[in-house]
Amino acid sequence: MKFPLRLLLIASIVALLIVASSQVVDGHSKNSTYTNPILPSWHSDPSCTFVKEWDNTAFCVTSTNAFERPSRMPELGSIVRQQHGLFAAMIQYHDNSFYVIVTLQSENNATGLIFTSPNLYDGTTWSMPTNFTMYGIDPDIFWEDDGKVYVSSNLYGTTIGLVVVDPVTGSQTTPTPIWNGTGGSSPEGPHIYKKDRYYYLMIAEGGTQLGHMETIARSTNITGPYEEYENNLILTNTNTTEYFRTVGHADLFQDESDNWWGVALATRSGQEHMSYPMGRETVLYPVTWKEGDWPTLQPVRGEMSGWPLPPINKGIPGAGAFVDDPDDYDFVPGSLLPLHFMSWRYLPTNAVIVSPHDNPHTLQINLSRANLTGDANSTDPTSFIGRRQTHTLFDFSVNVFFIPLLAEKEAGVTVFLTQYQHVDLGIVLLSSSSGTLTQFFRFRITSVWNDSSRGSSGREDECDLGIAPASIVSGGTGPYTGKYCTQIDVIEYLLITFSGALLGPYPTTNGGAGTTTAAYISEWRYEGAAQYVGNGEYVY
Ligand SMILES: *[C@@H]1O[C@H](CO)[C@@H](O)[C@H](O)[C@H]1NC(C)=O
Ligand SMILES: *[C@@H]1O[C@H](CO)[C@@H](O)[C@H](O)[C@H]1NC(C)=O
Ligand SMILES: *[C@@H]1O[C@H](CO)[C@@H](O)[C@H](O)[C@H]1NC(C)=O
Ligand SMILES: *[C@@H]1O[C@H](CO)[C@@H](O)[C@H](O)[C@H]1NC(C)=O
Ligand SMILES: *[C@@H]1O[C@H](CO)[C@@H](O)[C@H](O)[C@H]1NC(C)=O
Ligand SMILES: *[C@@H]1O[C@H](CO)[C@@H](O)[C@H](O)[C@H]1NC(C)=O
Ligand SMILES: *[C@@H]1O[C@H](CO)[C@@H](O)[C@H](O)[C@H]1NC(C)=O
Ligand SMILES: *[C@@H]1O[C@H](CO)[C@@H](O)[C@H](O)[C@H]1NC(C)=O
Ligand SMILES: *[C@@H]1O[C@H](CO)[C@@H](O)[C@H](O)[C@H]1NC(C)=O
Ligand SMILES: *[C@@H]1O[C@H](CO)[C@@H](O)[C@H](O)[C@H]1NC(C)=O
Repeated sequence: MKFPLRLLLIASIVALLIVASSQVVDGHSKNSTYTNPILPSWHSDPSCTFVKEWDNTAFCVTSTNAFERPSRMPELGSIVRQQHGLFAAMIQYHDNSFYVIVTLQSENNATGLIFTSPNLYDGTTWSMPTNFTMYGIDPDIFWEDDGKVYVSSNLYGTTIGLVVVDPVTGSQTTPTPIWNGTGGSSPEGPHIYKKDRYYYLMIAEGGTQLGHMETIARSTNITGPYEEYENNLILTNTNTTEYFRTVGHADLFQDESDNWWGVALATRSGQEHMSYPMGRETVLYPVTWKEGDWPTLQPVRGEMSGWPLPPINKGIPGAGAFVDDPDDYDFVPGSLLPLHFMSWRYLPTNAVIVSPHDNPHTLQINLSRANLTGDANSTDPTSFIGRRQTHTLFDFSVNVFFIPLLAEKEAGVTVFLTQYQHVDLGIVLLSSSSGTLTQFFRFRITSVWNDSSRGSSGREDECDLGIAPASIVSGGTGPYTGKYCTQIDVIEYLLITFSGALLGPYPTTNGGAGTTTAAYISEWRYEGAAQYVGNGEYVY
């Protein structure tokens, strides 16, 4: 059975829905089988909360943003460092409201932010955030019976700390360390669960790469002291031969039948751990947790079985696409940008128009001065709209209509991982050998990742790219003199990151003038072909 899930990109929050009515076969609920990852591609740091009041649905966040307009978080526009910004959010439902707590990490400064919404199906209902000071990353929010709100998080990079925060005013106590973990590096991603007589504190250790793992401790007092579980680790694929690696940053929740489940991040990178363009993905595993006992988390594989799951139900509210839906967008007049389309931080103001009057059925994207690489420390926004690469094998294509009039003006499609890692195929105006400005196809690989843990720098030479033939149909009508069709077919390439690849068009002046002109994108298509789950096995 296929796992029923839906990606709802409401106000950029990702909500996973598990509508948990048990499937009944021959009078018995049957255990389920499903395939990981349940949220393929860039869905790091998952957190889920199961809400009976909302039709027995599990809502999840991954490392995206809990707001739908820049005015809710203007600070994000001035973040320049690759690993800064918003990440590792946690979601909870309390007193008829959804809460999302997250850190905004900037240079030497982490701000804790608490957003609330009464209705995740309506992105306009998100509050402005309450903010407070953080002394580390990865906040968890926990309501004590006496009404106190505890926020645990990584503290000073070296331990797990606890503060009491007022989620309305942001006033807070000073942090106290509560657990150092079992000795792994980077104790982080804590979650506190109150069960039976105990507060269970589950954390990630070992760093988010190959040593990633989950450990747990418990106490009868939320402030500690915490007793370490003698059978730690409770979840890891470290030192195994599994294809799914870096498993950690987990969260646990219960379904309608009170069965426990967990989510975590994982990368499909195998023993080599070299090429995983889809980055850190969300996986699901069943958990057994008997009264008074420690939880048992089932190891993460591609093919899974566990507690009964409900049948697929795509009849749920929300305007977003399901995670496995293809893209088939013609930008019809009056339509909006699909909710799963993403930008890299904020887009330039007014740079994007769906179906403009003079060029209906296109997506008008104005050129940005900054290209996909940008200027190292500039906060200039980049004109780029993409969707996640959600399948190992896929087809992605758009039509690009573009008349460059100045040298270095360029528009095309990219497989974009970070500013330092992207593969671009564009139309660009350059001087020809005779000195006249001529349109060229330009294919560029930017790969300056420097992974010191492997002691190597850029590895462009190891890229293996397959690009389908590009056809040029000239003599178009209207304001265009040419029509260019570029297609990136199936791509295998060596790119590594915390994020995952985005596919989409990028128009840029490459640092020059001329940003008041536009490229016109039409016939946006994406179709997944297969997921690779290891051991030579593709799931179609
Ligand atoms: C931290 O960031 C917040 C939000 O951007 C800002 O208000 C505050 O002044 C900063 N604090 C320091 C010490 O830089
Ligand atoms: C935090 O709150 C202060 C005071 O309300 C505000 O000036 C600042 O912009 C906020 N910072 C963030 C990151 O929201
Ligand atoms: C964490 O380790 C430090 C250094 O060994 C120690 O001083 C501290 O008491 C430990 N904290 C906890 C909560 O165990
Ligand atoms: C928990 O520990 C704190 C700090 O030692 C103490 O003040 C508090 O009374 C304890 N709470 C309970 C319920 O025992
Ligand atoms: C994995 O193997 C390394 C090298 O032998 C060892 O240092 C580490 O403790 C192991 N980690 C786990 C979680 O088994
Ligand atoms: C059903 O799944 C749960 C969770 O993985 C497991 O504990 C249980 O043994 C399974 N039951 C059967 C009959 O396989
Ligand atoms: C960008 O800023 C970082 C941190 O301030 C600095 O180390 C680096 O040299 C700057 N790079 C450029 C190209 O200006
Ligand atoms: C890559 O990292 C190593 C080790 O930190 C450093 O010595 C080297 O200069 C870096 N190379 C580049 C191109 O940044
Ligand atoms: C991006 O633009 C800069 C000028 O701002 C240029 O030097 C650089 O070559 C461009 N890089 C790519 C990959 O387009
Ligand atoms: C975007 O480009 C169009 C077409 O050239 C132009 O009319 C419009 O003014 C530009 N918009 C911005 C915000 O630069």
